[in-house]
Amino acid sequence: MCGIVGYIGTKDSYPILIKGLHRLEYRGYDSAGISLITSNGDLVVYKAKGKVSSLEHDTADKDISGTIGIAHTRWATHGEPNATNAHPHYSESHNLTLVHNGIIENYKPLRTELEKNGLTFHSETDTEVLVQLIEYMQITHQCDTVTAVHLALKNVVGAYAIAILDKRNPNQLIAARKGSPLIIGVGKGNSTAGEGNAEFLLGSDATPIIEYTDQVIYLKDEEIAVLNRNGKCAITNLDSIQQTPQLQTLQMSLDELEKGGFQHFMLKEIYEQPNAIRTCMKGRIDPQNHDILLSGVIDHRDRFLNAKRIIICACGTSWHSALIGKYFIEEATKIPVEVEYASEFRYRNPVISKQDIVIAISQSGETADTLAAIQLAREKGCFVYGICNVIGSSIPRNTDSGTYIHVGPEIGVASTKAFTGQLTTLILFGLAIAKVRQTLDEQLFHQLVDDLMLIPEKMQWTLEHSKGIEQFARTFTYCKNFIYLGRGYNYPVALEGALKLKEISYIHAEGYPAAEMKHGPIALIDEEMPVVVIAPKRGLYDKVVSNIQEIKSRKGRIISIVTEGDTIVKNMSDYCIEIPDTRDSYAPLLAVIPLQMLAYYIAITKGRDVDQPRNLAKSVTVE
Ligand code: M6R
Repeated sequence: MCGIVGYIGTKDSYPILIKGLHRLEYRGYDSAGISLITSNGDLVVYKAKGKVSSLEHDTADKDISGTIGIAHTRWATHGEPNATNAHPHYSESHNLTLVHNGIIENYKPLRTELEKNGLTFHSETDTEVLVQLIEYMQITHQCDTVTAVHLALKNVVGAYAIAILDKRNPNQLIAARKGSPLIIGVGKGNSTAGEGNAEFLLGSDATPIIEYTDQVIYLKDEEIAVLNRNGKCAITNLDSIQQTPQLQTLQMSLDELEKGGFQHFMLKEIYEQPNAIRTCMKGRIDPQNHDILLSGVIDHRDRFLNAKRIIICACGTSWHSALIGKYFIEEATKIPVEVEYASEFRYRNPVISKQDIVIAISQSGETADTLAAIQLAREKGCFVYGICNVIGSSIPRNTDSGTYIHVGPEIGVASTKAFTGQLTTLILFGLAIAKVRQTLDEQLFHQLVDDLMLIPEKMQWTLEHSKGIEQFARTFTYCKNFIYLGRGYNYPVALEGALKLKEISYIHAEGYPAAEMKHGPIALIDEEMPVVVIAPKRGLYDKVVSNIQEIKSRKGRIISIVTEGDTIVKNMSDYCIEIPDTRDSYAPLLAVIPLQMLAYYIAITKGRDVDQPRNLAKSVTVE
């Protein structure tokens, strides 16, 4: 949830670190801090509560010289967001500074032990324990810092990505990870001989690195890297056994990390959906033969042929896409599908067998609960399949097979294009399995493929016809509650619409299957209550019309999403947005777009920080 950036090389590190923090700010933005070894050899730390801009403001008159540094943007876990708890933290002697992403679960006994040995703590964080422990190991074992890091990490329970500076060695940056991501960027000047304008970058993800190099090393769990100014990168495991780093090329462009003229990343990402879905389908559909080319399924054909059950684990928006995926996969493949909150699945003792397939859906590929769920599934001998967006992230590296959704970096905390990318991938996945198991007749299969290929164009139409939302959204700015209703495939869309509104506008919203209203929630309806109804022409349309009537007769205000040309629901609605006709199972791909826009424009008129809503972070790497 926190963001780490580091630099060692020949350039001034401060501007690189600050820019990196801005790029990582979507991961957490309670407070920020930076530590540098200045040109005078001082190890300085500057920290500020709030966003990176506050840190920039506070360092305007400080010594920001030097060519090595580490920086951090925080999402608070232990201790309130303030400058004291912000990272980096010093060791007792002020010889070391450290930044950390993750949670040290046994920090309390470690802290008590260190306090007994005379060390003083200044913050409430688990992180300060790490840096103090490293120094303590160094003193008690009379060893160098790198050895002390090994010794300290062996005593730690929990998850960490860390970066460390040592005032006595301005030529080396130390990094380590377990459970939290960390990427090393290998600068263009580096050579194996260690000559030239060598430089290394560190990042919680690739966003602070891509501007300088596309050559990266994904640090693995329990690896410690020592990045030297001479261009050498030494990686060892916790037992000090040397590891061979694998250099990889990033598939990302800088443009994808800019707002490109939009006011917010969220709006940009909403508008990117037609192209994102084209890219997601690219190379995976053979239009001539109406075939689905999903290597993740084809390469493991027998697994899918013999599968008895599919269990999908996910969180948040990804969990909503899983619910829609369940409906489609069951229909297409006849394999029973269960959907689980990863956070619940990991802590029960689920009955799973070796013939079950567990799917993890995650935009970031780093969600701690989803990672733990797949770890459990693997321990039980299941075949694990990942559906992720971030290339090289932890989930794809811990699964047997999988498919990237390929929608490009999603920076807005509220997930938009990742949701439609996940839905598209789940449809491709269902179709690929149906092909293997021969569960769909050929004509229907062809129609499903043809209809899917039309979706990007229909998304474009939807975007153009949703522009009026900006006007009427103002009407709802002062509402305290919202209800979202849908049935069948559109029930999870109602959940997703409600989540979008909650997370960026802070208005309370609930999604329900429309027919459930009369079992309780209808008591909430009065003239104050806006009810968003997803009512496309197919599926359970007539039933939804009756549900709308029930709400109307209790004076609820209706905002409806209908199929182009519909007049029945339109005439019953206070506001109505049209989407093009498509098959029932594909309607969520279109219906969610006006809901994303509604949430966006309500949040804007309320003056909310849409891309960085309070208390949230993009990538939830702690449980
Ligand atoms: O990266 P993931 O897809 O695993 O993230 C799961 C949720 O944290 C995420 O979808 C969250 O609910 C979003 N903020 C929703 O917009």
